[in-house]
Amino acid sequence: RDGMAEEAKKLAGYAAVDNHVQNNQVVGVGSGSTIVYAVDRLAERVRQEKLNIVCVPTSFQARQLILQRGLTLSDLDRNPELDVAIDGADEVDAALTLIKGGGGCLTQEKIVAGCAKHFIVIADFRKDSSALGQQWKKGVPIEVIPMAYIPVSRAIAKRFGGEAVLRMAISKAGPVVTDNSNFLLDWKFEHAHNWKEVNTAIKMIPGVVETGLFVGMTVCGSECVLWDGGW
Ligand code: A5P
Repeated sequence: RDGMAEEAKKLAGYAAVDNHVQNNQVVGVGSGSTIVYAVDRLAERVRQEKLNIVCVPTSFQARQLILQRGLTLSDLDRNPELDVAIDGADEVDAALTLIKGGGGCLTQEKIVAGCAKHFIVIADFRKDSSALGQQWKKGVPIEVIPMAYIPVSRAIAKRFGGEAVLRMAISKAGPVVTDNSNFLLDWKFEHAHNWKEVNTAIKMIPGVVETGLFVGMTVCGSECVLWDGGW
């Protein structure tokens, strides 16, 4: 099954680049393990087809990947308008609402996706669910200002139930610190919600930077999903 998953990730990553990237484009590069396949394919096409592609990263990991593969690195200061952003997801439900942020990069990922005309999500069969929570068991990642993590956690549990737990580092004694020097809460919800409303309400809690709920950013279907650029 692991071998199958890797093959599926590779196929989706390659398809995203082959079907949605053209010459002279600015491309947003997501984070995680699936995006590595897409960047490998992008680097191959840039070399073989002599494409002029500029890449905007969504994390330290993505930045390193772009540099290691010899691609041209940019940022939102120089390229605030992207043609396409490609990224993975932790779970995709039937309405194409996503949970993202398993790797802790949800804030930059949402910013970069929001600057792109098209948002392509590459997700293998393990991410596919009819309702959020069926596949990704770790809850909705929420980036918070460090001093606010307890008030935010309490506010979420009081209003929506479940438990919002501080994400702890594995190889260090202490919390995970994001690329933005913030903490992460993983909100383990108890039942289905109206994700659009929940996303908006959580964002309004003082101290919340961003949620890993991507609602209404993906439309259409198949292994690659497209966002038309409208909010
Ligand atoms: C990073 O913060 C996440 O949003 C990733 O995009 C997501 O976790 C997908 O990662 P994999 O491709 O490793 O499953």
